[in-house]
Amino acid sequence: MRTVSLILATENDMKGVATWIGHPEILRWLGDTFKVTTPSRDRSELDGQRRGHVRTVQLVVRDQDRAQPPVAYACAAVYGTPAPGTVVGATQPEDAEYTAPFHASVMYAVRRDCWEDRIGTALVPALLEHAELAEVAVFLAGIDSENGGSRKVAEAAGFVAEPDAPATGHRMYRFTR
Ligand SMILES: CC(C)(COP(=O)(O)OP(=O)(O)OC[C@H]1O[C@@H](n2cnc3c(N)ncnc32)[C@H](O)[C@@H]1OP(=O)(O)O)[C@@H](O)C(=O)NCCC(=O)NCCS
Repeated sequence: MRTVSLILATENDMKGVATWIGHPEILRWLGDTFKVTTPSRDRSELDGQRRGHVRTVQLVVRDQDRAQPPVAYACAAVYGTPAPGTVVGATQPEDAEYTAPFHASVMYAVRRDCWEDRIGTALVPALLEHAELAEVAVFLAGIDSENGGSRKVAEAAGFVAEPDAPATGHRMYRFTR
C-alpha cells in the first residue's frame, strides 16, 4: 500500500499548489470548500451547535523532484466549542476562546497529472492521522455524489455519508475518531 508524507505547507509550497489547483477538473469539485484555502475566521455548525473557527491547517505532499510543485494538498479548517462567555458571531475576534470537542472541515486535491496513482487513497488517512489534528474528534467533507474519485478515497479512509444526505448532489461525509 502506498503511503505519503504529509507535511505543513510553507509559503513556497502554497505558491506551488496555486499553480495547479485552479485546473478546471479540480476546481469543478472544490466548490464552496475552496474557500478554506484562504483561511478565514468564520463559523461552522455541528449537530445544530454553533462552533467557532480556531485555525486552518494546510498540508502538502512534496514531489520527489523539488523543482516541481507539491503533488497533493490537504486543508483542514478546525472549529471548536465556544468557551463560556464566548458568543459565536459571523466573524470572530482574535481573542475568542474555543475548547474541545473540535471538528474539522476538510478538503484535498491531487495534482492533475498525478491522479489515479493511489496518492489520494494514501492522502486521506495521512490527513486524519496528522499530529496537527490530533485533538480533532470529527472530520467533515462535502463531496458531490458524481465525484467518484473523492467518494472512493474518503470511504476507504472510513468516512460515511451523513444519514440525511441527499442521494444526489453535494453530500456531507463524516469521520468520527
Ligand atoms: C479525488 C482525488 C483526490 C483522488 O485522487 P487520486 O490520487 O487520483 O486517487 P487514487 O489514485 O487513490 O484512486 C482511488 C480510487 O478512486 C478511483 N478514481 C480516481 N479518480 C477517479 C475519477 N475521476 N472518477 C472515478 N473514480 C476515480 C480510482 O480508480 C481508485 O479506485 P479503486 O480504489 O477502486 O482502485 C483527485 O481525483 C482529485 O484531486 N480530485 C479533484 C479534487 C477533489 O475532488 N477533491 C475532493 C473534494 S473534498
